Amino acid sequence: MIKISPSILSADFSRLGEEARAVESAGADYLHVDIMDGHFVPNLTIGPLVVAALHRATRLPLDVHLMISPVEPYIGEFVKAGAHIVTVHAEATHHLDRALAMVRELGARPGVSLNPATPVCMIEHVMHLVDLVLIMSVNPGFGGQQFIPQSLAKVRQVRQMIEATGRPIELQVDGGIKPDNIAQVFQAGADCFVAGSAVFSQPDYAAVIRQLRDNAQ
Ligand code: DX5
Ligand code: ZN
Repeated sequence: MIKISPSILSADFSRLGEEARAVESAGADYLHVDIMDGHFVPNLTIGPLVVAALHRATRLPLDVHLMISPVEPYIGEFVKAGAHIVTVHAEATHHLDRALAMVRELGARPGVSLNPATPVCMIEHVMHLVDLVLIMSVNPGFGGQQFIPQSLAKVRQVRQMIEATGRPIELQVDGGIKPDNIAQVFQAGADCFVAGSAVFSQPDYAAVIRQLRDNAQ
């Protein structure tokens, strides 16, 4: 069963609570929350206070994508704010093993992410620590960018790495996912799809989420 994780980045920020509830009733599985620091990525978004507000607004598990460096000092805050998954970039810390172990110890599910130019071997020795791997299919920082097709090869490689662990690690892809390209990403081995502009640019969230789900096969 695949999962759809709409990214709140493309929602109407003046009505965040309503938008979160709208995708919840439209059939989303997670709510993807992009945290940007203007340092690791060239944009700024939100912090733990807003994550806590979203946690009060929806029952959807919060899939928190940290694009911040340093990351370790803030992991606890995001877990306390109600993050269900906390995804850390391999490029954002010198101590990835420690950061991922910290997420687990503090009570959330650890995810690890790779930018488009980062090879998959970067996560080879942390696979036992994670519940999710996130392959970025755009350079992180902004919604509405074009899917980078080279990501598909990485998805295939990570799918094999996951099979080798024998553990049910989710394989998430984030960036430029649309109803017309989700099939190839699914076929490459992904089972969790972030979609920001594809969902929030449409008037009928339920219809797009259904379309994404139907096309992913
Ligand atoms: C990009 C973010 C994504 C973004 C995806 O830095 O990590 O989650 O919101 O947006 P779309 O689906 O519009 O590419
Ligand atoms: Zn994201």
